[in-house]
Amino acid sequence: MNTGRRYMEVAIGLANKGKGEVYTNPLVGCVIVKDDKIVGKGWHQYFGGNHAEINALIDAGKNAKGADLYVTLEPCDSYGKKPPCSIAIIKAGIKNVYYAMSDSNVSCGKKVLKKNGVGVFGGLLKEQAKVLIKDYLKYLKSKPKISIKVAMSLDGKIATCKYDSKWITSEKSRAFAHKMRSRYDAILVGTNTALKDNPFLNTHSKTLKSPVRVVIDSKLELPETCHLFDATIPTIIIYDSNVVAIPSYLNKKGIILAPVNINMAKKNFATITKKLNSLSIKRILIEGGGEVIASALFSNMVDDIYFFIAPKIIGGKFAVSSVGGRGVEKICKSLPVKNMKVRKIGSDLLITGNIGTK
Ligand SMILES: NC(=O)c1ccc[n+]([C@@H]2O[C@H](COP(=O)([O-])OP(=O)(O)OC[C@H]3O[C@@H](n4cnc5c(N)ncnc54)[C@H](OP(=O)(O)O)[C@@H]3O)[C@@H](O)[C@H]2O)c1
Repeated sequence: MNTGRRYMEVAIGLANKGKGEVYTNPLVGCVIVKDDKIVGKGWHQYFGGNHAEINALIDAGKNAKGADLYVTLEPCDSYGKKPPCSIAIIKAGIKNVYYAMSDSNVSCGKKVLKKNGVGVFGGLLKEQAKVLIKDYLKYLKSKPKISIKVAMSLDGKIATCKYDSKWITSEKSRAFAHKMRSRYDAILVGTNTALKDNPFLNTHSKTLKSPVRVVIDSKLELPETCHLFDATIPTIIIYDSNVVAIPSYLNKKGIILAPVNINMAKKNFATITKKLNSLSIKRILIEGGGEVIASALFSNMVDDIYFFIAPKIIGGKFAVSSVGGRGVEKICKSLPVKNMKVRKIGSDLLITGNIGTK
C-alpha cells in the first residue's frame, strides 16, 4: 500500500499541472504502473481536453496491458465532452484501478470496471485529493472562488498614513502578481483603492488575458479620470441601488453598472459575490484595500490568500493595514489559515494558504 501511496502522490502532483487551465472542470492526475515502474503519466491539461486517464493511457501505449492505474478522481462512465474513461481503461487491459475519491457530478465507472474484471479500490489519499477539486466543488455549488492578494510591509501595512503604496514589494513580486490576475474572471478593489492608487488592474502582458475589473463605488462618486473607466477592459461598478443619478461618463461601452443594497453588502460580502455570480463571474481576486479585504474575509467568503511581504517596516497607527474592519475581539475567534506555504520572490516572501473556515 505504501508504494500505492507514492504513486497516488505522483498523480496528485501531475493534477496540479492543470491549475489555472481546467476550471470549471476538476484538476485530475493519473499514473500507470507496471512491474513497479511508472509507464504512463497524464493529467487533465485544459478545459475540454482529454481526461487524465486518457492522456496516461496514450503515454503508456502497449505497456498499459496488465498494468495498474492510479487516478485522483474515480474514472467517469459518462459521455460528456469525451467518451467514458471506463471504456478506454477496459479496452487497454488495465488490471487494477486505484482512485482517491469519487466525483458526485458525473456517473462513475467503478461498477462497469468491476463488471469487466478490473479490480477497483477507492479512497487512497482521499484527503489530499480533496484539495485538488476544491474549486470544482465550489463551482458546482455556484459559489465563486475568492482569493486575496496583498503587498504589505513586514509590519502588515499596505500603505502609509498618507495612503502612499508605490511600491512596497519588489518588481519580481509585482510581475508575479500581474500574471496571477489572468487566472481569475475579475479583479476587485474598493473605493479608496481606486481613488488613491488609480490602478489599471490589467495583466501588463500582450499574451495574458486581462480579467474584468470590479470596483465598489457606493455613491458613484469616483472621478471620470479613474483608469478603471478607460474602457480598455470591461469594468463592473458595484453601487448602491438607491443612487439614481448616473454620471454621464459612465454611460459608455465597457462599463457595467451593478446595483446592490450597499448596507447589506457592507454587512455581508456575499451580496457582492451573488451579484457578480449573476454576471458569470466565478473567480475573483480581491486586491484591496484593507476594508474590502476585511469585509470579504469576515463574511467567510475567502478561499485562499496571497500575502507578499516586503522587508520593510512602515509603521504608524494610521497607516493602512492589510486587513481592516473591526477585527476579532478574541484570539480564539481569529480566522485560521491552513496549508500555509512560504516562498521567496525577489527580496520578498510570498505566503499562501487557505482560509480554514470554509
Ligand atoms: N499594498 C497593497 O497591496 C494595496 C492594495 C490595494 C490598496 N492599497 C492601499 O489601500 C488603501 C485603501 O484601502 P482602504 O482600506 O482605505 O479602502 P478600500 O478597501 O479600498 O475601500 C473601502 C471603501 O469601500 C467602500 N465599500 C463598499 N462596500 C464595501 C464593503 N462591503 N466592504 C468594505 N468597503 C466597502 C466603503 O466606502 P463607502 O463608505 O464610501 O461606501 C469603504 O470605505 C490605499 O491607500 C491603497 O494605496 C494597497
